[in-house]
Amino acid sequence: MVTSGGDAPGMNAAIRAIVRLAAWNSLEVIGFERGWEGVIQNKFRKLDSRSVSGILHLGGTILRTSRCPEFKTRQGLEKAAGNLAEENLDGLVVIGGDGSIRGAHELSRLTDTKIVALPASIDNDVYGTDETIGFDTAVNTAISEINKIRDTAVSHERTFIVEVMGRRRGFLAVEVGLTAGAEVILIPEVKYEEDRVLEILRENAAKGKRSSIIVIAEGVGRTRSLAESIERKVGVEVRVSVLGYVQRGGSPTARSRYLACTFAEKAMLLLSEGKGGEVVGIRGGEIVSTSLEDSCKNVKKLDPRVLRLAEKLAI
Ligand code: ADP
Ligand code: F6P
Repeated sequence: MVTSGGDAPGMNAAIRAIVRLAAWNSLEVIGFERGWEGVIQNKFRKLDSRSVSGILHLGGTILRTSRCPEFKTRQGLEKAAGNLAEENLDGLVVIGGDGSIRGAHELSRLTDTKIVALPASIDNDVYGTDETIGFDTAVNTAISEINKIRDTAVSHERTFIVEVMGRRRGFLAVEVGLTAGAEVILIPEVKYEEDRVLEILRENAAKGKRSSIIVIAEGVGRTRSLAESIERKVGVEVRVSVLGYVQRGGSPTARSRYLACTFAEKAMLLLSEGKGGEVVGIRGGEIVSTSLEDSCKNVKKLDPRVLRLAEKLAI
């Protein structure tokens, strides 16, 4: 197995589940270190049930991870495929986000080793699953931070712009904004309309609302300019809080652990049936799988109607 790309709470739960399910079938497991870099360099360690003791509750990944530009090159992919052949691996479980899954798909074209991916990312932007490992944990971490921010926002009667992660997609911002009671949610998928934001804030002020929370995905890229506009054009004090990397860490929630365990079970079942080229997921509560190809060539849809719901609930 390998953990790749941005780390996500629950990756260790997935590692533990894969190793222990393999043990039930007397399968040997090796863990490549530092993402695709470890597969290219053939750096790995053997893992057994004792190796994964005491990690279920830990964020991050005991195998470490990386972002590996070399893996995007033909040479890098070929070196990786050669190592899989050299180690005569029956299967490779890839635990990572949409980029890692793209890498898994490219690698699957060059190897006979069966590859199955577990979607793990705080961005929740993988096509083929309603939810990724780690997303629920990041949402709850962000909500907890916004609860604290709301205390000082109310005390100082300020508007806070809270920037959450999500370089390209707004799934995290939408879920956090709705469940944290944000007055406004801004995401890369919806055209940025500053005047609309200013209008909402003016309406709120007219109704006597003395503080507001705006949740913005980092991919929108307007955090600082919006703060300046609100202060100048609405005349309220604004502060910015970039949540940053706290969203990537912490002990995985029960939900993230549940997904890790059940995704791992599905992955090991697929491999036991000699199946590969799949990414595991949950859809409508059912644990399913999608081909790597379909997951890579499709874009996961985000329902913008939730934004309107959030605005209605925050009047
Ligand atoms: P995440 O998996 O969290 O989305 P990245 O987008 O950084 O994180 O992807 C992780 C790694 O997967 C990249 O650093 C790169 O090594 C590999 N990767 C991403 N996209 C591709 C691709 N299209 N082809 C080959 N490898 C890729
Ligand atoms: O892919 C998950 C993610 O946390 C994104 O939301 C964020 O933009 C990115 O990783 C940060 O990348 P890095 O950890 O390499 O700084």
